[in-house]
Amino acid sequence: KEAKFKNEFAILEFAKGFYHYYLNHTKDGKEALSYLKERGIDSETIDAFGIGLAPSYSDALVKTLTNNQYPLELAAQVGLLNEHNGHYYDRFKSRIMFPISDKLGHVVGFSGRVFLDGDTHLGKYVNSPESNVFQKGKLIYHLNEAKRSIRRHNRVLLFEGFLDVIAAVKAGFDESVATMGTALTEEHSRELRRLTDKIILCFDGDKAGLSAASKAIPILMAQNFSISVAEFPNNMDPDEFIKTYGSEAFSKLIDQAIPAIDYQYLSIRRQFNLDFVSHREQFKRQIYHFAYTLQSATLKELILKKLAHDISIGEQSILQEFNYSSKSQVYKNVNINNNKNENVQIHSRQ
Ligand code: GTP
Ligand code: MN
Ligand code: MN
Ligand code: MN
Ligand code: MN
Repeated sequence: KEAKFKNEFAILEFAKGFYHYYLNHTKDGKEALSYLKERGIDSETIDAFGIGLAPSYSDALVKTLTNNQYPLELAAQVGLLNEHNGHYYDRFKSRIMFPISDKLGHVVGFSGRVFLDGDTHLGKYVNSPESNVFQKGKLIYHLNEAKRSIRRHNRVLLFEGFLDVIAAVKAGFDESVATMGTALTEEHSRELRRLTDKIILCFDGDKAGLSAASKAIPILMAQNFSISVAEFPNNMDPDEFIKTYGSEAFSKLIDQAIPAIDYQYLSIRRQFNLDFVSHREQFKRQIYHFAYTLQSATLKELILKKLAHDISIGEQSILQEFNYSSKSQVYKNVNINNNKNENVQIHSRQ
């Protein structure tokens, strides 16, 4: 039989259908469905996001693709299969499958989450490998679906995890997107900036999330975004927050998002105990570094006056000292993110 013409998008779309069917219509699917249900992901959400399940045996997709005359070589090229000694095996096994689409809505890859205890040795998530269609540095989860909403509301909510996006959409925020577990790149930022100039960062309320926010801010600032940061309490991520406190509390938290400038000021201040004179001095230096990076003279002055107030020094002394040291370029080229969070690894990645 002649293999039908099938391109990489067709094969990925077929795999999505297979995983989705397998989740909904098999005995194996029941356990995965109850995991999803426990997480608050109902069947409507499962359908809307095309969520599926990869079977536990290693030739499930291989067989289905073969029966449907899809070229296995192509399936391996897009990361659905692994090849070993001329044999093909499923890459994803016993994982809940989240399809990932590009900005035009083509399925370009998957992220598979463990859901069985003791299955975590390969990591919580396994993603499709980088390929000519799956490039994490460019991909933005849910962008195709969110586009219209982003334009209409003239803002975008950016999350760390795609499960946070799913929860936010369910809570009524269609203008939600996420990167695929990677730090925000200039390319991501440019892509979003074509749709809106307002962005609200909804990163996890843990150290990794704080660090991710302070790294994303300069990249977004370079694109002239108006940025604010929503803060999630008790190390919660947005998904957990919505589940615990509900959509309305989430909505409030979004409304109370802090402008990036103030957020950065606060995140520096939090590193110091201003009861100590030595801390005040270090805090002052960090704020000078920060103020040095600001383009606007007004913002610079406002930040410095705030500093003066916080460490009980006269505004004029601070302004004079800063101007003197910035003329002598003491604070030039110093990375303001070079703080205690700097070495926190954002996420284990493969
Ligand atoms: P849940 O634990 O299922 O709620 O996931 P989460 O969305 O809270 O994920 P987490 O905050 O741990 O990480 C945020 C994002 O980083 C995820 O959506 C993934 O894209 C990525 N990530 C986290 N853990 C892993 C991992 O083990 N491997 C890979 N490749 N990516 C990961
Ligand atoms: Mn809306
Ligand atoms: Mn996290
Ligand atoms: Mn999280
Ligand atoms: Mn989570």
